[in-house]
Amino acid sequence: MDIVFATGNAHKLHEAERILGPSFRLLTPRQVGVEDDIPEWEATLIGNAQAKARYIYERTRLDCFADDTGLEVDALGGAPGVLSARYAGPAHDSAANMALLLRNMEGKTDRRACFRTVVALILGGGEHLFEGEVRGRLATSPSGEVGFGYDPIFIPEGYQITFAQMSLEEKNTISHRARALQKLARFLQPANLFEAEKGRGELF
Ligand code: IMP
Repeated sequence: MDIVFATGNAHKLHEAERILGPSFRLLTPRQVGVEDDIPEWEATLIGNAQAKARYIYERTRLDCFADDTGLEVDALGGAPGVLSARYAGPAHDSAANMALLLRNMEGKTDRRACFRTVVALILGGGEHLFEGEVRGRLATSPSGEVGFGYDPIFIPEGYQITFAQMSLEEKNTISHRARALQKLARFLQPANLFEAEKGRGELF
């Protein structure tokens, strides 16, 4: 089955290919003729994931999915959340984002945080949502080189090391995005597909 993944991020594409398996051929927006920067200016992760998937669907009428992720910090009322990519400004600079977050966390003893991913799928014109999260806590300074974004300051629950100190394999078995993609993969199994007609738009 062919399905478009609305991302320009090669790491995400590879991760999704691995989780969805060989019965799916993932196509990029570029491969189906959508070259634009897909806008993501909604106020929620769900809104952004839906907007990206709809952007592809409206232009191609192909089955497609999109994801959106945020890091939600308890002591900051869920910030940076949907603004994670541009927390320190429009440059999407991970080092600056982490530095600002660590500054805003100075003096706070509650360092609990959660990565949350929403995947929006459009299948045969119907919309479905899947959510994955991983809880953890923020380190006081960055450690590790693997991964991207806030990985060097996020210590998942049950671990003493950051995401950036784990192998990608290990991170990808427990990560927010992997969990959302695993739900998508289960949903897309042929045996489950007829169930899709029963409930549209629900958050799994
Ligand atoms: P996006 O929705 O996947 O583009 O993610 C928004 C922002 O969240 C990114 O710019 C990253 O800063 C951060 N982010 C997303 N996924 C991860 C992750 O797996 N590790 C660390 N940071 C992430």
